[in-house]
This record gives sequence, structure tokens and C-alpha cells, in this order.
Amino acid sequence: MGSLEGKVALVTGAARGIGQATAVRLATAGADLALCDLQQDWVAETAEKVRALGRRAECFTMNVADSADITRAIGEVEAAFGRIDVLVNNAGITKDGLMMRMSEEDWDAVLDINLKGTFLCTKAVSRIMMKQRSGSIVNVASIIGLIGNPGQCNYSASKAGVIALTKTVAKELAARNIRANAVAPGFISTKMTEALPEDVQKKMLDNIPLKRFGTADDVANVITFLAGDEAAYVSGQVVTVCGGMVT
Ligand SMILES: NC(=O)c1ccc[n+]([C@@H]2O[C@H](COP(=O)([O-])OP(=O)(O)OC[C@H]3O[C@@H](n4cnc5c(N)ncnc54)[C@H](O)[C@@H]3O)[C@@H](O)[C@H]2O)c1
Repeated sequence: MGSLEGKVALVTGAARGIGQATAVRLATAGADLALCDLQQDWVAETAEKVRALGRRAECFTMNVADSADITRAIGEVEAAFGRIDVLVNNAGITKDGLMMRMSEEDWDAVLDINLKGTFLCTKAVSRIMMKQRSGSIVNVASIIGLIGNPGQCNYSASKAGVIALTKTVAKELAARNIRANAVAPGFISTKMTEALPEDVQKKMLDNIPLKRFGTADDVANVITFLAGDEAAYVSGQVVTVCGGMVT
């Protein structure tokens, strides 16, 4: 029996990258999956992979920056599954630029999706978890939220916010048997990072003690551990998944 047998997990940004790998890994541990992304058909590939493992997968359209959309989508998830045991707030974007040239628009877009989206989804799903008197929330932050990075003032602020939000939620919801933790990935090979110029990628590699970029599966493994009962006494923590870069 997997550690998440009989549990229902909701993953945002589940169409590709870390979100897709996480959905598949959670299914391997026995969970059924509510797969959310900006468009329902985008998560069809992830759903196929989950179903191939013998688990249930349902697809939902959800824009994490839109509270009305979240209310509708979470209502649909609740109607379909009857419960939500695990929430993975994974949806995120970058809009990089030096602080002095950063437009208000790019600041707002990144904060709205990465930070406000995590708050809104957490609030909506916590209502269900509080009734159940159990739940586990895993937020996808970033090491950039811990150490900062030139060209990413919006992104680093959003991820630092996610870390602080995680710690507060962990304290507020502990009495209802709900845990909240964050992972802080380093450089992970996905569509988000393959857009970076080769010289930037090479410079980053030089700074990684384990001398390789991370994979989406590296992150998914840690998320799955934090989501399940093996981490029953772990809450309010930030686990870096960065090849030893940030210690
Ligand atoms: N790749 C890395 O190196 C890395 C490092 C640290 C943290 N992260 C974080 O991991 C998470 C996933 O990153 P990834 O590399 O897999 O990115 P990705 O771009 O491959 O996937 C992100 C997913 O989120 C979805 N999404 C974007 N905006 C959305 C919205 N408003 N509502 C719902 N879904 C939305 C996208 O459609 C996509 O499916 C992000 O939060 C990112 O900040 C990534």
C-alpha cells in the first residue's frame, strides 16, 4: 500500500514540469488526483499518466489569480471527489527584469499568481480540510525566495512571501490537524528554465555542489514525502531541493 492510498490530492499548474511530475509521483503513492491548470485540456497528458498507474484523475480549469474562478473550481473538485486531503500550490510564473526597469504590470502579474494565488487556493481548500479535521498543504517556493537573485525582484519577493505564508498557515491550522510546508527548489530543468541563455545556465551549474541541474522528479519526491503521513510531525518547514547550493 502506498502512503497516500485513499487520499485525494489537488495540484495546481499540473499540466507540465514540476506539477506534472508531482501529480504522477502522488499517484504512485496511491493518491487520486484533481489536476488544475489554466485550461482543462492542458492537463489531459498528466491525467493519462495518472490513470495509467490505476488512480483516478479529473481535470479542472483554474486560474489561481482569480478568486471567483478558484471558488468555482474547488466546488467542482469537492463535488467530484467529496474531499481534498493534499493541496500542492505549484502554479507559478516568472517575468524577469532588473528592479529599476521592472514595470508595475510585471510585478503585479508575478505576485498575483505566485503569492496571491497560493493564498487564495490555500484559503479555499482549507475550508474543506478544516471540516475534515485533516489535511496537508505543500507550497512550491524557490531558493530565490531565500537568497534573492538579480533580475528577479518580483519572483524572489513572491517566493519569500510564499515561505512566510506557509509558516503562518502552519501555525493557524495546526489545531485542526492540517500541516503546511514548502519546498524551495534550486535550478530544475523544466520549460521555465530552458528559456534561460546558455551562459547563464553554465554559470548556475558551476555553483551547484552536486554538479547537475535538478529534475522535476527530484522535487516531486520531496513534495510527496511532505504530503504524506511519513511527515506527520513536520509542519511550517522549508525544504530546499537544490543540489546543496543553499545550506
Ligand atoms: N524550474 C525551476 O527551476 C524552479 C525552481 C524553483 C521553483 N520553481 C517553481 O516551481 C513551480 C513550477 O515550475 P515549473 O518549472 O514546473 O514551471 P512550468 O512553467 O513548466 O509550469 C508551470 C505551470 O503552471 C501553470 N500556470 C501558470 N499560471 C497559472 C495560473 N494563473 N493558474 C493556474 N496555472 C497556472 C502553467 O500553465 C504550467 O502548467 C513554480 O511555482 C515555479 O516558480 C521552479
